[in-house]
Amino acid sequence: HDAISVIRTKRDGGALSDEQIDWAIDAFTRGAMADEQMSALAMAIVLRGMNRRETARWTRAMIGSGRRLDFTGLPRPTVDKHSTGGVGDKVTLPLAPLVAACGAAVPQLSGRGLGYTGGTLDKLESIPGWRADIGPDRMREILSDPAAGAVVCAAGADLAPADKRLYALRDTTGTVESIPLIASSIMSKKIAEGTAALVLDVKVGAGAFMPTRSEAHTLATTMAELGADAGVRTVALLTAMDTPLGRTAGNALEVAEAVEVLAGGGPADVVELTLALAREMVALAGLDTDPAQALADGRAMDHWRTMIRAQGGDPEAPLPVAKHTETLSAPTSGTVTSLDARAVGVAAWRLGAGRARQGDPVQAAAGIHLHATVGDRVTAGSPLLTLHTDTPDVLPAAVEALAEAITISPHTPERKGRNPLILDRVG
Ligand code: URA
Repeated sequence: HDAISVIRTKRDGGALSDEQIDWAIDAFTRGAMADEQMSALAMAIVLRGMNRRETARWTRAMIGSGRRLDFTGLPRPTVDKHSTGGVGDKVTLPLAPLVAACGAAVPQLSGRGLGYTGGTLDKLESIPGWRADIGPDRMREILSDPAAGAVVCAAGADLAPADKRLYALRDTTGTVESIPLIASSIMSKKIAEGTAALVLDVKVGAGAFMPTRSEAHTLATTMAELGADAGVRTVALLTAMDTPLGRTAGNALEVAEAVEVLAGGGPADVVELTLALAREMVALAGLDTDPAQALADGRAMDHWRTMIRAQGGDPEAPLPVAKHTETLSAPTSGTVTSLDARAVGVAAWRLGAGRARQGDPVQAAAGIHLHATVGDRVTAGSPLLTLHTDTPDVLPAAVEALAEAITISPHTPERKGRNPLILDRVG
């Protein structure tokens, strides 16, 4: 095979053979296929698509480019969750210890944020002492510990290395937006991680990768099929991402909100999504513990403390606090009828919670605290949201990002409260 013939096959609308796919991924990983050639192939895939066989083979080849972790033989069933990314989505933080408290082992390899959606590792790193660089042996120890049972850590360089290189390339060549490429990218990492079962949270809406429900459904189905083909039991929930989840966006602010959920409080939407995903995970793991009970009686909080300590963190230590805050007030009285997730994400990112380039540092304390969300009544002059940052020169840009983000209607809408959060289930 050679790169040009593989590119031509896809460019002209053909299906790639298994051999062509194996060759291309292997050659790209070895450096024998140049970045510009893989970019051209990725663009051809964006325009022409891949069928189920091609997508499964592509995924398998990306897994095979590195090491596949193996957690068979653990005393508890493994199950993990992956979210396609949303603003204020801190659900992994309460969910992993909750599902561990229900008797499963949760081996989560997670990422850092790029762009306006935050990364779980960035959030956890705001806890003093907490470290993401845990190797497979230590992962297995923590997963085997019945008091912990969950680990959230960085993927090693040898986990689907072809995807790492390809994702960086797609990011700079306008080739992220392809369902087969997104599905194979996510699933190659989750299958290589060695989990036996997986629950996907596929976000739909203005603040998500997939703006429409039909695209999100196709992505969810494609990922569930890839899981099934690889022997990983996979279920997907489609969930709304038009409004930020909960009341916070930003690293330490989101950790604090996750701890509120573990303590039995927290915003209703975060609790609802955490419990819905936990029920799916517990069922896929073949367990019959009730997650609501494990949350209410404090077992999930016990597991949180143990898992944070197991990775060097101090769960009792105060979280970092921003040097500067600015509170915006409601300009008029009425009901909040919309609150744009993307605008809040961009504002939090500008405040320093996210990074512009891979490897940039993030501010632990930066972000946004919402005092009101969709469905809440506000009065003119009452606090609407507070911006947090260590670098006050960015405040005007963040305020600007929020200019059109919030709609306050003088009339109480007929249907009160939030729109439904869980839209569909696949698998
Ligand atoms: N997340 C990934 O890991 N890969 C994609 O292609 C898109 C989102």
